[in-house]
Amino acid sequence: MALTLQDTISLFSLNSGISNSLRPRLNQNVSLLSSGRHGLDSFKIGVATSSPPTIPRRTPEVDSGFDYKLAAWTSIQQERWEGELVVEGEIPLWLNGTYIRNGPGIWHIDDYNFRHLFDGYATLVRLCFHNGHLVAGHRQIESEAYKAAILNRKLCYREFSEVPKQDSFLSYVGELASLFSGASLTDNANTGVIKLGDGRVVCLTETIKGSIQIDPNTLETIGKFEYTDNLGGLIHSAHPIVTESEFLTLLPDLVRPGYTVVTMKPGTNERKVIGRVDCRSGPAPGWVHSFPVTEHYVVVPEMSLRYCAQNLLRAEPTPLYKFESHPDSGSYVHVMCKSSGKLVASVKVPNFVTFHFINAYEEVDDEGRVTAVIADCCEHNADTTILDQLRLNNLRSFAGQDVLPDARVGRFRIPLDGSPTGELEAALDPNEHGRGMDMCSINPAYLGKKYRYAYACGAERPCNFPNTLTKVDLVEKRAKNWYDEGSVPSEPFFVAKPGAIKEDDGVVISMVSGKDGEGYALVLDGTTFKEIARAKFPYGLPYGLHGCWVPKN
Ligand SMILES: [Fe+2]
Repeated sequence: MALTLQDTISLFSLNSGISNSLRPRLNQNVSLLSSGRHGLDSFKIGVATSSPPTIPRRTPEVDSGFDYKLAAWTSIQQERWEGELVVEGEIPLWLNGTYIRNGPGIWHIDDYNFRHLFDGYATLVRLCFHNGHLVAGHRQIESEAYKAAILNRKLCYREFSEVPKQDSFLSYVGELASLFSGASLTDNANTGVIKLGDGRVVCLTETIKGSIQIDPNTLETIGKFEYTDNLGGLIHSAHPIVTESEFLTLLPDLVRPGYTVVTMKPGTNERKVIGRVDCRSGPAPGWVHSFPVTEHYVVVPEMSLRYCAQNLLRAEPTPLYKFESHPDSGSYVHVMCKSSGKLVASVKVPNFVTFHFINAYEEVDDEGRVTAVIADCCEHNADTTILDQLRLNNLRSFAGQDVLPDARVGRFRIPLDGSPTGELEAALDPNEHGRGMDMCSINPAYLGKKYRYAYACGAERPCNFPNTLTKVDLVEKRAKNWYDEGSVPSEPFFVAKPGAIKEDDGVVISMVSGKDGEGYALVLDGTTFKEIARAKFPYGLPYGLHGCWVPKN
């Protein structure tokens, strides 16, 4: 049964604490929905909540020469919305909680179009599951970068590939020195979202200043997540390791090339140093978008695709953006003991390119001794062209050519016996998942432990972007794939059934941009990988990156 308008407003008001005095404004904004690309027939009543002035919602026409309907690569239509969705199929009654997904969602300011997928201003989407029902919503993160863009109607901070014109930034901040320091870096927290052990929910990107706390019930921006230590630095891994009791991340040191491994206790904002790794080679640390851990060790990857401090502050983008490729410098993997901070291995490995590690675990011999660390990642065959493939013009101009570079599950074996080298090979035949592999998740109970299943985006060729969901069985070396022709699904996120014994007993949640411009939330069975429910949004949503699960209570 559809909710009434008053019910939905009441629901939102309860969640958000919005006062009765705002209700007339909420009512007025309902009419915004009817201006969307799609009708209201497929979802229950929703509201666009009261909004501050925003960047216009539609992405201006781009001159790619192709007619694209996918909402995945176009700016979101309005700044916020919430409503109940009609569910086709059945959502398991045990699935109670909220999936929150973060990602870039506005790629323009007035008529100026951004270049790269990673430039967009952060859009949060939430799927609140309750007793088989699904209430969805989306909202922009109110970062300083986003607010400044609205206020000034131009770019004021350095995004991934976008750099403000000097006068824009100076008029905003007013200091010439700031243009050449970290002050001009963005706080646009458009990459990931994590739930800390103490319950706080924080959105993240690669700049440390882009750590922003939000309210998981309303998606409201609470404010900057301030680290109270004196560790300084400008950047960190966009993907810390977070559990109920643990928070670990890496701070690349661009001055004295290396990485500081830090931890932070739940309930605190103070990171403490576990240890430091010096880079083995190259002018700067390798890019560490993510890293894995085992039960006892932190795995520190040193890619030959390295940060470049000059490119970080350069006025125009370079072919590899903030990075530089130094294949001759070699690639390395370091293994640090979590408790002592001591390095137990530092080995040279074949060159690799990865954004996302999947998991890692300890290999043990018959007598229980740890002989090696196994670390798996979504590996792009050491090819850096994937970065440029993510330019929006490329994404918007698919005309049937197979232009997505190949990727695989890259499996490292790092021996702990003092050997100087480690191995890297495909964990299964990449054709099992169409030679596409990125945006992964696992059953979180298996973090750092020997595991069997990974969920990720794969490919059905030809394509220009990962366009399937894949469940990889690392024991049988097979994959099950889900595909909806012409659509683009985002990261498949595994949620385990409470009390589950089997690793894949649960569901996989994704949000899909359909080929005709529509969009829907999708729930797959974690075991069979078959669709069990979908629910259409009132309009297609932009592509998103990473999510987290906030269980009810
Ligand atoms: Fe990521």
